[in-house]
Amino acid sequence: MKRREFVKLSGAAAASAIMIPPTLQSCMDNMNMNMNMGSNAVPVKEGTFATSLSFPTVMSSNFTMKAKGNTASLLINQNASVFGYADGILGPTIKVDTGTTVAIPFQNLLSEETNIHWHGLLVPANMDGHPKDVINSGGSFDFSLPINQRAGTYWYHPHPHGKTARQVFTGLAGFFIANDAEEQALNLPSGDRELLLVIQDKRIENGQLNYSPSMNEIMTGYTGEYILVNGAYAPFHNVSTQYYRMRILNGSTARVYNISLSDNLGFEVIGSDGGLLAQPVSVNSLLLGPGERVDILVSFKNLAVGKEVYLLNKTFDGGAQGQQEFKIMKFTVNQQVSDAFSTPSQLSAITPMIEGSASKTRTMKIKGMMEGMSGNMGSGMHTINDKIYDLNRIDETIDAGATEIWDFDNSAGDEIHPMHIHGVQFQILSRTGGRGSLIASERGWKDTVLVMPREKVRVIMKFPQDKGVYVFHCHNLEHEDDGMMLNYEIV
Ligand code: C2O
Ligand code: CU
Ligand code: CU
Repeated sequence: MKRREFVKLSGAAAASAIMIPPTLQSCMDNMNMNMNMGSNAVPVKEGTFATSLSFPTVMSSNFTMKAKGNTASLLINQNASVFGYADGILGPTIKVDTGTTVAIPFQNLLSEETNIHWHGLLVPANMDGHPKDVINSGGSFDFSLPINQRAGTYWYHPHPHGKTARQVFTGLAGFFIANDAEEQALNLPSGDRELLLVIQDKRIENGQLNYSPSMNEIMTGYTGEYILVNGAYAPFHNVSTQYYRMRILNGSTARVYNISLSDNLGFEVIGSDGGLLAQPVSVNSLLLGPGERVDILVSFKNLAVGKEVYLLNKTFDGGAQGQQEFKIMKFTVNQQVSDAFSTPSQLSAITPMIEGSASKTRTMKIKGMMEGMSGNMGSGMHTINDKIYDLNRIDETIDAGATEIWDFDNSAGDEIHPMHIHGVQFQILSRTGGRGSLIASERGWKDTVLVMPREKVRVIMKFPQDKGVYVFHCHNLEHEDDGMMLNYEIV
């Protein structure tokens, strides 16, 4: 159904009192109202960039993860109730070498069910944090994660169906960094010149987090007016005149960022979700959707002491999003040093997977709320192949080790869908419609890809040998919780 027809129909329905459930009616009214006003992301309030950026503790082994309620100072001098995997908001950064198996005992000290999904890691299905494998309040589970994949910027977060968005929003997320010898040999900036940055927008009222999406916000995604980096609002970080490696995670539920630097400083993209690209790519901006990561090098080498550089969101063409440019955080150059680093021209080897090697092509029709309306009145208005998520239904059956092509088809859609597949890293073959081409970070291994309105994105991947049930879904977490997720089983 076209948007205009829907507006007409819902108006007519209200007038003639056709049987429409009251919740749906208020949802429709809400949408009508918001469509008339234009349903945009909430405007961001820029801060003063006076809080110093902090970093989660780094852990490698011998630690227990505890999901629990904590307090944290999100805005200055305010104690907010949050969730974390240790103290405060967020969780530790887990750093391990590939080829090892990490044991992570987990305790759920929340008063609700949760679990942990290791986003981007290729682990056995029973360790993947499938929504059926939830851990009840007070329960525990021993994760054992064999890390047999490339070095990369992975992350972890909860995955209980219908509760993922709120739990992530409330603070449950962390980095999982895998290292390997290939990356080590490049001598990329490390130590205090390697910054892990998780960007998340939060709605905060009276000092407390507020997660209460309206029907309209389930459509567009829940956005917040405060942009936090590593749990701090509008932070700053002092840098010296050197190269810095920044590994950025968009850990927001729905907000997309067009990452850039002030004064058009530009940066080099060296990696994406699944590790290093083959070669660095210089850009001035890069779109980063929820769940995606980008690994970049930023040179402050030619800047004067005292210079301030902002990490920005630039405007972009994204319908309900992208209309506001805003500052995310500030870097202040405070020290002059010499730096001999230069970016290696070759970073890694990535063998392109060819279309002809796939044994099957599947189309995943992704439908937003408006397009899904005719098929599904009432609940689960975000669908994949006209289905809403069912924990116990197997939607796609895949042979162990098979190479397949999947088309994520949003060519009829108006909404933004960052599509994510568990259990694999894929390559992107093409994007048709919309932007019509791939961006720098899409030339490497990916587990999440932004499918903007009108776009169709074709990916190719080899599924694991490990049998079991995994999910794939939209990483707009409001959409995911609304049912935009399916199961696939490796047999
Ligand atoms: Cu980060 Cu199933 O997701
Ligand atoms: Cu995942
Ligand atoms: Cu979506």
